[in-house]
Amino acid sequence: MQQILVTGGTSGIGLATAQQLKNAGHQVLITGRSQGNLDRALDQLNQSQGAEVNGLMCDQSQPEQIQALAEELIQSDVQLNSLVLNAGIFLPQMFDDMTLDNLNGHMATNVTGPLMMIQALLPIMKTPSSVVFISSIAVEKGFATAVAYSASKAAFEGAMAALNLELAERGIRVNCVRPGVTLTDIQRKAGMDDAAIAGLKQAMGQTPAGDMLGPDDIAPAICHLALEGSRHSRNARITVDGGYCL
Ligand SMILES: NC(=O)c1ccc[n+]([C@@H]2O[C@H](COP(=O)([O-])OP(=O)(O)OC[C@H]3O[C@@H](n4cnc5c(N)ncnc54)[C@H](OP(=O)(O)O)[C@@H]3O)[C@@H](O)[C@H]2O)c1
Repeated sequence: MQQILVTGGTSGIGLATAQQLKNAGHQVLITGRSQGNLDRALDQLNQSQGAEVNGLMCDQSQPEQIQALAEELIQSDVQLNSLVLNAGIFLPQMFDDMTLDNLNGHMATNVTGPLMMIQALLPIMKTPSSVVFISSIAVEKGFATAVAYSASKAAFEGAMAALNLELAERGIRVNCVRPGVTLTDIQRKAGMDDAAIAGLKQAMGQTPAGDMLGPDDIAPAICHLALEGSRHSRNARITVDGGYCL
């Protein structure tokens, strides 16, 4: 049984990953930034058999909350086999109108948060252990309104090679999954209405996969990188996009 922390495990890809890891017999912890969402996710996850999933509050855009999370985990003697850096935001704005707050917000949650999370949790990462970052196809394909988002995901990916070199001594490997367009709460949080979501579904109908992806389609690649089967992967980027980028 491996002990695995999934950030942003309250919905979408993080919740599906937490569920699949639990179903595979692992001990899972999730973080959330809202107590209500965290409680709802834990209720759902703990309906199935297996080790109880526990939840911790941590808004990762706030460095002091990351420190508090690390201290709580250290005090509880948690030792992590894997850290899944899934929590992220996408708040689209055309570049013309992009505000500094929007750019800084993406950077705080999607880059600074995950990097500081790794640093804060180093004392409880086992040797060997795995870090999996949830990136995006927006690193390789342009989407109008996604300048800040793409830059934030690319920034973390840009750090991965150096992280792998520096953390190799501790037996820590860092890899990422690049999901394609996946139906989760992220579209509503991004302000998309039913028509816009229908448009996305239609676009996904044109891909080789021929259908919109769901969180359960992305989670297996994350589980692979989190678990021992990927122990020789370093700096890998697994795209799961149904062929959207072809
Ligand atoms: N869905 C896609 O099409 C897609 C494509 C490529 C990449 N991704 C990436 O996949 C990851 C998961 O996204 P998703 O689609 O599953 O979206 P989602 O359903 O909105 O889930 C995002 C999760 O991150 C949490 N979160 C957001 N900001 C946070 C913060 N500051 N501190 C802590 N937790 C925070 C959310 O908490 P709340 O529940 O409180 O909001 C939620 O648990 C993200 O990194 C996203 O960029 C998604």
